[in-house]
Amino acid sequence: MKGFGLTVFGTNIAKEVDRLSDHKVFGKVTDVVGLLIEVGGVQGSLSVGDHCEIIARNDRRVTCEVVGFSNNRALLMPFGPVDGIGMGSRVEISASKPVIYPDESWLGRVINAFGEPVDGKGPLISGAVAYPIHNAPPPAHDRQRVGDKIDLGVRAMNVFLTCCKGQRMGIFAGSGIGKSTLLSMMARHTAAQVSVVGMIGERSREAREFIEDHLGPEGMAHSVVIVATSDESPLIRRQAAYVTMTVAEYFRDQKNDVLCLMDSVTRFAMAQREISLSAGEPPVSKGYTPTVFSELPKLLERAGPGTAEQGTISGLFTVLVEGDDHNEPVADAVRGILDGHVVLDRAIAERGRFPPINILRSISRTMPACNSAEENAAVNRARKLMAVYEDMAELIRLGAYQRGSDPQVDEALHYYPMLEDFLAQEIGEKTDLATCYRMLYEILGMDGGEAPEAAPPEAAAEAPPETPPPEPAPEPSPEPAPAAAPDRAADTAPDMSPQPEPGADEAMTEPADPVIMPAGPSFQTLPDSPPPEEDKGDEAADAEAGGEPPGESGKSPEPSPEEPPQKQD
Ligand SMILES: Nc1ncnc2c1ncn2[C@@H]1O[C@H](COP(=O)(O)OP(=O)(O)O)[C@@H](O)[C@H]1O
Ligand SMILES: [Mg+2]
Repeated sequence: MKGFGLTVFGTNIAKEVDRLSDHKVFGKVTDVVGLLIEVGGVQGSLSVGDHCEIIARNDRRVTCEVVGFSNNRALLMPFGPVDGIGMGSRVEISASKPVIYPDESWLGRVINAFGEPVDGKGPLISGAVAYPIHNAPPPAHDRQRVGDKIDLGVRAMNVFLTCCKGQRMGIFAGSGIGKSTLLSMMARHTAAQVSVVGMIGERSREAREFIEDHLGPEGMAHSVVIVATSDESPLIRRQAAYVTMTVAEYFRDQKNDVLCLMDSVTRFAMAQREISLSAGEPPVSKGYTPTVFSELPKLLERAGPGTAEQGTISGLFTVLVEGDDHNEPVADAVRGILDGHVVLDRAIAERGRFPPINILRSISRTMPACNSAEENAAVNRARKLMAVYEDMAELIRLGAYQRGSDPQVDEALHYYPMLEDFLAQEIGEKTDLATCYRMLYEILGMDGGEAPEAAPPEAAAEAPPETPPPEPAPEPSPEPAPAAAPDRAADTAPDMSPQPEPGADEAMTEPADPVIMPAGPSFQTLPDSPPPEEDKGDEAADAEAGGEPPGESGKSPEPSPEEPPQKQD
């Protein structure tokens, strides 16, 4: 190991010597305000984004980046503390764009925003080609179209939010809902050849947990992790995001299909906001400056398909939505740039279903086109069942919905728990693409992708023929449930939903018209209603829970004796 380290060191020094320029330019510090350092005497030698070094007290070198110009002076921000920098401190100009030298051997390693190793596993081999940190994406007309499906190993993603090679998706959620955990599951289970993970501005505790527990040796073997924690300077946090893309670009150029994961883009935007505000740029929206919104597409566009000679970079970027406001400026901007969004729902997480992806509010823009007709049919059917259930969730929870009133809702009631089980997945569990579809076909009873005619067979077949159809409610809603009821989904609690026991399904009837009971005060339990008697049938109890007069309950189909009355607590 020691011999290997020395060889790498020797090779790196030789390469470094070759890269040295033949002359040096110096400037002088003329002003320091907060983190902003003004440097004079550098006209014509610098441009925005260049790096230079200030020689502070005791010859300590502080690397800085040019963030702007004002009154013939360059405005610099330091990557480290400003201690020891004073008026007249010398500034060594290296008039070149910052670059890193990635190499194949970086797989399995953890690096910082400068491409230096931070995992204590010895020096990194420096690659032969310089990759600029601020690289441009391939020209639009040279880029390939998105490729085949990419297996992410997570059921909800593979089936409902299928990603193609070269696609870029955002994962949107408030804090502590499960963004990082979902990202780590995909980094570990993906079938992509290389994963490049950028941990931007997150807690330092999380970095270690992510690498050791979530990614594990299995995930780490095909990954490069770039870390800049929240306590580091905004320049470092922003640069870590650029370096993440640069490393992904290197592996893409080796014809790999790269999965680039970034947690989080919001921290990148916040770092850019700090930099811009320090440089005197006026804020436009929630304190974010115009530069934030011009830098975001520049960063995110670097992911995507490559040219014919290159591989692809599929991107998954987490977005922290402050106060669960999905319309805040950064979330809005990122959603517009990417090819799909995954919404994690706090209410789903609170009821313990992980990953808490709300499939009705999430979308993959490339999905219908990349699926076969059978796959699309299964996914659409499952989505529709979820949507119908979510729309009725409140009534079901209150016990105001009676089985048999609407075959569509009864069908949704039957399938919902199975679909919820399908969506729930342990962190260490992996399901490949083919298995995901097979599981979904099994749940929906779609043999090889063929949809059954209508309601589940056992429910329709065993309906008692003599049961009269229920009378329409006073103001029947003619439309079945709308396609999605995002906000109501939040209130759904699976343990309160009726259990689809075979006995319960026997009560199914075929009503003349679909009837959905209207929500409203008439469905609340009336405070002065008589208390339910011990031997009272479920039918009457159900009617009471729904607040109906007992005299009218005779019109309802007979529910199963096993089905307990659903009441509001
Ligand atoms: N798949 C999962 N299984 C079990 N618990 C999870 C899962 N995903 C998230 N959690 C829980 O949610 C918490 C927050 O998750 P985390 O990924 O750190 O959220 P975020 O990145 O959105 O802030 C975790 O500490 C864990 O308790
Ligand atoms: Mg997180």
